[in-house]
Amino acid sequence: MNEMEAYIEALFPPDEDLARVLESIRAKGMPEISVPTGYGRLLTLLVQMSGAKELLEIGALGGYSGICLARGLGVGGSLTSLELLQEYADTAKENLEAAGLGSRVSHLVGDAGESLERLTSEGRRYDFFFIDADKGGYVRYLDAAIGLANPGAVIVADNTLLRGRVADLQRSGPSVLAMREFNERVASDRRLTGTLLPAYDGLAVVRVNP
Ligand SMILES: C[S@@+](CC[C@H](N)C(=O)[O-])C[C@H]1O[C@@H](n2cnc3c(N)ncnc32)[C@H](O)[C@@H]1O
Repeated sequence: MNEMEAYIEALFPPDEDLARVLESIRAKGMPEISVPTGYGRLLTLLVQMSGAKELLEIGALGGYSGICLARGLGVGGSLTSLELLQEYADTAKENLEAAGLGSRVSHLVGDAGESLERLTSEGRRYDFFFIDADKGGYVRYLDAAIGLANPGAVIVADNTLLRGRVADLQRSGPSVLAMREFNERVASDRRLTGTLLPAYDGLAVVRVNP
């Protein structure tokens, strides 16, 4: 986190539900890679402002972003969260329950690519997507999200800068190449209106054109 990000984060009052998530992640030795506070707040705002009702998250971890997404829901909406590992999905579920949001979320455990194929074959539709799982899968997840999107749906994705590696032309590893392709799609796919925010590790914010 840079100085400006730290300054902004210090303005936010303590949040006991989100603090509980971070504590459970530390206690279980899970990776400390939840979405940063400023982007968590943005997720809540974007769900609220878009009026999205059906939300799909790819990558649950301990439920930090899940809480932020579910907090933005109005009456009657729900969050479906895809997670590779049972232990992480269980932790996320516990933390959503502790935050009073357990009835708004269901977790699907397994590879997100396979879960997305299943949701597609079931004819599901979503208003809001948050992509935050394996970086090599982002282009596939973007295509699946476009296929599952209601007109005007919002797609948000974290870590689009890969700590600056995407902009370093000396780098050409598989995650970097995949994320460059994802970012190019966000910028120029004619079915989308999108931009990339450069704070923290980068965030894509996209609308699927109606
Ligand atoms: C960056 S963490 C998610 C953080 C979470 N969105 C948050 O901010 O609270 C990435 C998560 O994606 C999961 N993941 C990685 N590969 C996956 C895959 N192929 N399918 C589903 N989940 C995957 C990891 O197990 C991990 O929990």
